Amino acid sequence: MRAADLLRAGALVAFGTETVYGVGADALNAQAVAAIFAAKGRPHFNPLICHYESEEAAFAHVEAPEMARRLADTFWPGPLTMVLPRRVTCPVALLAGAGLETLAVRVPAHPVAMRLCRAFGRPIAAPSANRSGGVSPTSVAHVMAGLEGRIAAVIESGPCRVGVESTVVDLSGPEPFLLRPGGVNLEALEAAIGPVRRGITPGRAEASRTLRSPGLLVSHYAPALPLRMAAKDVRADEGLLAFGPPLPGAGAVFQLSESGNLNEAAARLFEGLHWLDAAAGLAGIAAMPVPETGLGLAINDRLARAAAPRG
Ligand code: TXA
Ligand code: MG
Repeated sequence: MRAADLLRAGALVAFGTETVYGVGADALNAQAVAAIFAAKGRPHFNPLICHYESEEAAFAHVEAPEMARRLADTFWPGPLTMVLPRRVTCPVALLAGAGLETLAVRVPAHPVAMRLCRAFGRPIAAPSANRSGGVSPTSVAHVMAGLEGRIAAVIESGPCRVGVESTVVDLSGPEPFLLRPGGVNLEALEAAIGPVRRGITPGRAEASRTLRSPGLLVSHYAPALPLRMAAKDVRADEGLLAFGPPLPGAGAVFQLSESGNLNEAAARLFEGLHWLDAAAGLAGIAAMPVPETGLGLAINDRLARAAAPRG
């Protein structure tokens, strides 16, 4: 496979996963990993997820407690990332984990991602294939819009079934902690391993949370246009991100899900943000309310980041 040869040569290759498109590099090659940060314009303290062909391959590089094995058996391959302590023998470039003693690992389910991991035979460090601070890509067109000329190749992989990034759960501490809601529901996680802590708990400042997972900076997922969440009305100079019957009067409408289906809405979310962001003559985006259940948690998390004040 030509893409695997490019990775071996230290080049960057974008490929589809079931969540979003990633831009990948040889995780063992620190220079190749550095090239990811350069291509994305991403701050170096952001640790990356390493993609593996199998549970065995992943757990050869990180220490996996019983709970991690149960999650792997239940959700891999699939949209779940686990943060676990690196083994002392772990050969992954330190830069890939931003110098942390933990490593984020995932076994993707998309056939293209799986084939690439197998053909390459080493972990692939891959963040979402967008410029830093931009919206995550769910098509080759999105990838090209942000990274054309900055990467060696992109593999046409069709649409992304899930449409939001993987759920990130930290299993390196005394109790499991949800770092990022995503493609695997919290309900499903808890059904497999019991209570998972999330959010800012008393004594846990926002600063410590962002230090723990620096990619979760509040303004991480930002379209260029300002965005209002849970809009009850919409102006003629705003684009509407509709969920269910659209509010009247918008300058442009992107329907996430006519029937109010959260999975459909998640799969279309980034498409909608990209599309409204690119539409002519709009001054902002108004997003209709999305319920806080199932994938609604991940959708609202992304919308809150998009709505956060820019630094
Ligand atoms: O669905 C996905 O996860 C996609 C596809 C390509 O797999 N990837 C993705 O990667 O979203 P990225 O780099 O955009 O997001 C990785 C997230 C960030 O929030 C980062 O801070 C967190 O995972 N993360 C990575 N390593 C970590 C670590 N060692 N400790 C805490 N958080 C970590
Ligand atoms: Mg990202």
